[in-house]
Amino acid sequence: MLVKELIDEGNKLIHKDQTKLILATLLNLNYLELSLHLDDVVESEIEHKFKEAINLIKNGKPIQYALNNVNFYGLDFYVDERVLIPRFETEELVYNVNYYLNKYFKPHASILDLCTGSGCIGLTLKHLNHDLNITLSDLSPYALEVCDINRKRLSLDAKIIESDLFSNITSQFDCIVSNPPYISVLDEVDEVVKNNEPSMALYAKDDGLEFYEKILASCSNYLNDKYLIAFEIGDKEKVRVLDLINKYLSDVKVITKCDMAGLDRMVFIFKNVNLSE
Ligand SMILES: C[S@@+](CC[C@H](N)C(=O)[O-])C[C@H]1O[C@@H](n2cnc3c(N)ncnc32)[C@H](O)[C@@H]1O
Repeated sequence: MLVKELIDEGNKLIHKDQTKLILATLLNLNYLELSLHLDDVVESEIEHKFKEAINLIKNGKPIQYALNNVNFYGLDFYVDERVLIPRFETEELVYNVNYYLNKYFKPHASILDLCTGSGCIGLTLKHLNHDLNITLSDLSPYALEVCDINRKRLSLDAKIIESDLFSNITSQFDCIVSNPPYISVLDEVDEVVKNNEPSMALYAKDDGLEFYEKILASCSNYLNDKYLIAFEIGDKEKVRVLDLINKYLSDVKVITKCDMAGLDRMVFIFKNVNLSE
């Protein structure tokens, strides 16, 4: 079949933007290039993958799982049901951590990406700064399989450790970055998320605060004297996370940031760092 015929077929079943995204991804083209190839014949293997993806999406699967691909910070990450689909706001966390690391920490800084899932945070930081020493950890061995696929695809060096938070962590780091599960069981969650993404990547006890409290309670044992802790947080959790910081850490400076939607989404905790603009 031709590219334009597949687009027509797909548009009858799913949203037209998704049809184009699937074909562009499978043909390794961007949108503009796709429109220049409308009369090309599509190989039967690609046609088969296209129809399979359309079917999965029609039946409620997120497009990223149907394509086994998500673009995060300009990099292609493999994803499937073993990991959370990386979100746009997490790109903003990476942007800020990268900024602070470059500004306040030496080039060879050591970073622990706790609750790493697909590895999107730690691997992107390593891609941006090859001198960083990166450790990626998660409780889920299945998530870590995906993380290792991504590490290999991106040809990056990083240590991968299966660990219930700090249980198997034995080193000290300059920076701990984490996007832990933070949805309260009482929160409303989109059906497509609830039905597809791993629940252990989503939910946290104590009204969503479980992981922040556990991390803050023992992180000092795993940090150097000068450090940065960076969290992604739920948009209604800022005040309560700040309370936890006061409870467990002393002599720290804290910066909170909103995401592009104007929601409180990031917390950065610095110790022994002389903050300047
Ligand atoms: C919200 S997802 C974040 C994934 C990835 N860092 C991202 O930003 O897309 C949270 C991750 O925490 C992991 N996790 C859940 N409980 C954990 C625990 N006790 N210790 C370590 N990781 C845990 C889950 O397996 C999941 O991969």
